[in-house]
Formats: sequence, C-alpha cells, structure tokens
Amino acid sequence: MNNFEFYSPTKVIFGKDVEQQVGAEIKKWGGNKVLVHYGGSSAKQSGLLDRVEAALKEENLKYVLLGGVEPNPRISLVRAGIDLCRKENVDFILAVGGGSVLDSAKAIALGVPYEGDVWDFYDRKASPSEALPHGNIITLAATGSETSSSSVITKEENGLKRGCNTELNRPKFTLMNPELLYTLPPYQTACGIVDIMMHTLDRYFSPGGINEITDRIAEALLQTVIQYGTVCMKDPYNYEARSEIFWAGSLSHNHLTGLGRMGDWAVHQMEHELSGMFDVAHGAGLSAIWEAWALYVYKEDIMRFARYGANVWKLNLNYENPEETALAAIQATKDYFSSLGMPISIPQLLGKKATDEEMREMAVKCTFFGKRTIGGIKILGEEDIYNIYQGANK
Ligand code: NZQ
Ligand code: ZN
Repeated sequence: MNNFEFYSPTKVIFGKDVEQQVGAEIKKWGGNKVLVHYGGSSAKQSGLLDRVEAALKEENLKYVLLGGVEPNPRISLVRAGIDLCRKENVDFILAVGGGSVLDSAKAIALGVPYEGDVWDFYDRKASPSEALPHGNIITLAATGSETSSSSVITKEENGLKRGCNTELNRPKFTLMNPELLYTLPPYQTACGIVDIMMHTLDRYFSPGGINEITDRIAEALLQTVIQYGTVCMKDPYNYEARSEIFWAGSLSHNHLTGLGRMGDWAVHQMEHELSGMFDVAHGAGLSAIWEAWALYVYKEDIMRFARYGANVWKLNLNYENPEETALAAIQATKDYFSSLGMPISIPQLLGKKATDEEMREMAVKCTFFGKRTIGGIKILGEEDIYNIYQGANK
C-alpha cells in the first residue's frame, strides 16, 4: 500500500426531502447572500427550484439566480457568474443540478476572489488560494462532484476541456435526495452509471501493490453499481436502486476506492478531449473508449484484469491461462455498457467515424501539447493515445 492522505470534508445529508434543509445549512456556513446556480430546464420543470427559493426565503436569505449551465460547462458563463457575484456581494454559492452545474459553481467560487482570469487555474498558469464557500443539491448520480475536489470546465473558443483539482473545490455540504433522480432521461441515467464505474476502474487498474481493503471496497462498489444500475434502467422510480447508485457515485470519486493506489486516469483524460471536441456526454465518451484502452494495456498486468473478472463479474479464474479470464472481463464490461444503451465505439458515440486529423488533434491536446504523458498501468504518450482512439474508431 502506498502512502496516502484521505480528506473528504463535505457534509452529506441523504434521503427524502433533504433539499428542504438548504436554507438552514447555508446559514450554518455563514451565508447571507446566495448565488443559486442551475442548468437548462430540469430544476425548473421539476419544481425543485421553487422549493429551493421557498427554503431560502424561510431563512430570510437574500439570493440571486443564474441559470443556463450547459452540459460540458462553459467558461463564458463562469465569467458572467463571477461578475454577478461581485456586483451583488454574494458570499455563498449554491449549485442545483448535475455535475456540470456543480463544476461551474466551483469555478465561480474560485474566480470571485481572484484578480486574474479564472481560466488560469484550468490552464495551470496559477493555483487558487481562496474560494467562496459553496454547497449543492445534486440531481444526477454520476460525477461525484458533490463531494469531489475537481471541477471540469470547457473553453469554448478552442474546445479545450480542462480540470482544476484543489481542496478549495470541496463543497461545504451536499443534499442528496434520490427521488430527484426520477426525472432523469434513461440516457443520462446510463451515462451516470458508466461514469461511476469508471471513477473506480480508473483507480483500480493502476499500480499500488497489495492493497486489499481498498481493492475489496472497489470491487464491492462495482458489483453494487452493476446490479442496481440495471434495476434503475428498468424501474426508474425504484427508490432503493436510485439510492444505491447515488451513494456509490459519491464514494466512487471521494478517493475511497483508490487509497494506496496511484490512479491511472488515462480513460478520463482521453474522454475529456472527446467531449471537448465533440460536446458529447462524458459517460458516453468513457463507454466508447474503455474497451480500446483495456485491450491496449491489459498485458501490463494480466492478473489484475483476471482478478477483476473473477471478483466483480464472478468469472472462473483460469489460472493456467489468466489472459482468457482477463479478456472475458473486458468483454463483460463492454457488454454491460451496451446493455445500458451506451455507445461502445467512437462511431456509435458520434454517429460517424472520427477523422484521422481529429484523432491526431485530440492526442496532442491530451498530452497538453507535449508537456505530459498519461496513464499508470501503462504510461501513454501521444502515439499510444492516438492508437487507442483508432482502436475505438471501428
Ligand atoms: O441542464 P438541465 O436542464 O438541468 O439538464 C441536465 C443536462 O441536460 C440533465 N439533468 C440533470 N439532472 C436532471 C436532469 N434531467 C432530468 N432530471 C434530473 N434530475 O442532465 C443533463 C446532463 O447534466 P450534466 O450535469 O452535464 O451531467 P453530469 O452530472 O454527468 O456532469 C457531466 C460533467 O461533469 C464532468 C464531466 O466531464 C462533464 O463536464 N465531470 C466532473 C467531475 C468532477 N467535478 O469531479 C468528474 C467527472 O469525471 C467528470 O469529468
Ligand atoms: Zn468521470
């Protein structure tokens, strides 16, 4: 087990009707004037936004509204949010929506006290040193942004999608009501299931030696998500299934399933280029490239893929030929994604093949224009990344 730090300070309030506590929670964290940040239409249509406004009024909190966050949230709205917060003297940010809304809210929180352009934090030109406090009512089980230290923003002018990781991104609280997930379209439910699995898989398939407790937590989480993911797809109003997936989503990205391992993250990093260039849903992008990545790297640690097959998919581990089990595990994962209605190749994702030029461009962007390699189980440079996109482009 490698040395690690575990810090997950977000207060989680989970269950039916918990969003009613939002005003009281903001007050506990010292908020007086709140920016309520939300997405396109779902929070309005479901009546959630009305309930949030009522809860804020009940606590005599002042607030301003800023909607319009798009999936793959844009830096332009972040900048508008920063200006609004300064003008209105906002001292607390509340995100109401999916991961995109939460990430946009985190970016605004970082940008308000910063004199330069907030994109500097995403472009790695500067590190944030302070942020406005923020909390959330999360309405999509997927990213884990409700407790994570990440925010991922797209600069629309050049299609660059970049993450900023800092402890300042940790929300003060998250209010998680599984009933808010009932209105999700099946496609978004499925994207979320893939993303939750991938936050654990991107940690699981990475160096770390013997790490039994973390590995077993990871395997249990994956089994739970696979089982209840299928239930959510068939029965969207199943409270228990939605609850299992929701909580798994937070645990999958608060580092618990990767403690003591270095983390790989190649699939995530390659996906960010796909959604940066083509504006596709993150979970669908992950699903489209995972198999090509797995087939490219599995020989680096065949026993790990075989163990995954045995412990997660309950395959018989063929000790004489573990490669057979490893390949069967990759196939089982791909079949599961497909059973959710997710694309399992780039053409399925985009409705067309990516061109050679597009794959070359994504590969170079993914290395930050030659400044980094990615991956852990296998270190990947520009040519490897291009090869994996090609492998997925069939
Ligand atoms: O905009 P509205 O109308 O709210 O609709 C959204 C959006 O169209 C809809 N939706 C959300 N909750 C709903 C709902 N529709 C009906 N009922 C509900 N309860 O779902 C659509 C997608 O929303 P979005 O927030 O984009 O999805 P998700 O939560 O998957 O977030 C994806 C973004 O998060 C980033 C991704 O790259 C992507 O930009 N990630 C953030 C991470 C983090 N901060 O830790 C980690 C992830 O790996 C990921 O990279
Ligand atoms: Zn993700």
